[in-house]
Amino acid sequence: MSFDPYDPEFLRDPYPTYRRLRAAPPFFDEAWGLTFFSRYDDVTGILRDRRFGRDVRHAVPREEVDPDVYERIYPSRYPTWTRLIRDSFIDLEPPRHTRIRRLVQWAFSRRASESYRARMQETADRLLDRALEEGRMEAISDFATPIPLTMIAELLGIPGGDQPRLVAWSHAIVRLFDQGCTEAEAEEAERATREFAEYVADLLAERRARPGDDLVSSLVAAELDGDRLSEDELVATCILTLNAGHEATVQAIGNGILALARDPEAFRWLRSHPEALGTAVEELLRFDTPLQMFERWVLEDLEWEGTPLRRGTKVGLLFGSANRDERRFVDPDRLDLSRADNPHVSFGGGIHFCVGAPLARVEMEVAFGTLARRVARIEGPDVEPERVPSLVFRGVRALPVELVAA
Ligand code: HEM
Repeated sequence: MSFDPYDPEFLRDPYPTYRRLRAAPPFFDEAWGLTFFSRYDDVTGILRDRRFGRDVRHAVPREEVDPDVYERIYPSRYPTWTRLIRDSFIDLEPPRHTRIRRLVQWAFSRRASESYRARMQETADRLLDRALEEGRMEAISDFATPIPLTMIAELLGIPGGDQPRLVAWSHAIVRLFDQGCTEAEAEEAERATREFAEYVADLLAERRARPGDDLVSSLVAAELDGDRLSEDELVATCILTLNAGHEATVQAIGNGILALARDPEAFRWLRSHPEALGTAVEELLRFDTPLQMFERWVLEDLEWEGTPLRRGTKVGLLFGSANRDERRFVDPDRLDLSRADNPHVSFGGGIHFCVGAPLARVEMEVAFGTLARRVARIEGPDVEPERVPSLVFRGVRALPVELVAA
């Protein structure tokens, strides 16, 4: 069993391939050095099983890990990226993960996700005013990107003029998560991390001097039982929040608009059922999952449902496939905005479950609620949109659509 994640046909529509993979046992892929799991029960089971982890360094001696895989995950040629991106808490395991996540959650909880809704709504309305005047928009840059960026800028207290630089850094940094990353892109990821870290260090110094009610100030102040975040931990956490907080949400909104443009009946249904907005957002997250694949290290020798796994190796969890598993979801390839039984894995599961899920849900409710209220029809795109060439991030680079006002 195998698949080519960079085949244009797979990038356009990976779901038939995933169906084929689910019908077969888990398989090892040489290029990624991963044993891939595609079924819902396996993906959710492994996410919650502590014999797997996002870090390996605390549990397995380095000599026992395949040097190629180790180098792909912790590339010594890109030391700043490895130190600040790979050592952010999403890539740590207990006790380091527990410690930092606790402090971060404390900082996050200081302002409720709902308090961002009014700002988001203002942004979404302003964006749609312009789009409706023109009768069209490029949905990624004109709508899907500015909403999460406004939210993140609010959350972290970042001046509006700095946002384009943050987007460029964030795009450059995440390329190194993908197997298809070129040498030049990797160099760029390292450079972007350095620049981003300098920017964040300045921001931290400023907030230490003049604290506000933003997340950066809260992270600086975060202290539980005498424990605080170190300077590297603060920088890493801010970069993680910026990247995680906007990359996935842009794609979640973009994929959702594409799905609704292709299914006018579903969009009409959403327009006449505003009370179902929350359920519809969950279905859009399931239907075309923005983050399609996450990895876990195997921390001890074990057998998973008949598949032997050796410690120090890695597994790949195909979230996009799990969300379309016919064993778990009724009629999984159908976009059903009223789907009530929908325990999708788009925000993960277990100890790394997305910290930003409540915020992401508010952003998506505002984005799709505003579209449903103010737009009668979304038309296009006329040609197949170009896909981001990644197995991890699923999204389109641009999405030109025509809008008919309600
Ligand atoms: C639709 C948008 C989003 C999606 C689909 C998403 C998805 C995910 C997933 C799947 C994970 C777990 C990864 C794993 O288990 O290996 C995760 C973790 C995380 N997400 Fe999100 N996310 C979104 C939005 C956000 C936002 C808005 C923020 C912050 C403002 C955020 C911050 C984080 C952080 C900090 C983690 C790491 C948690 C940990 O390791 O304990 N995410 N996200």
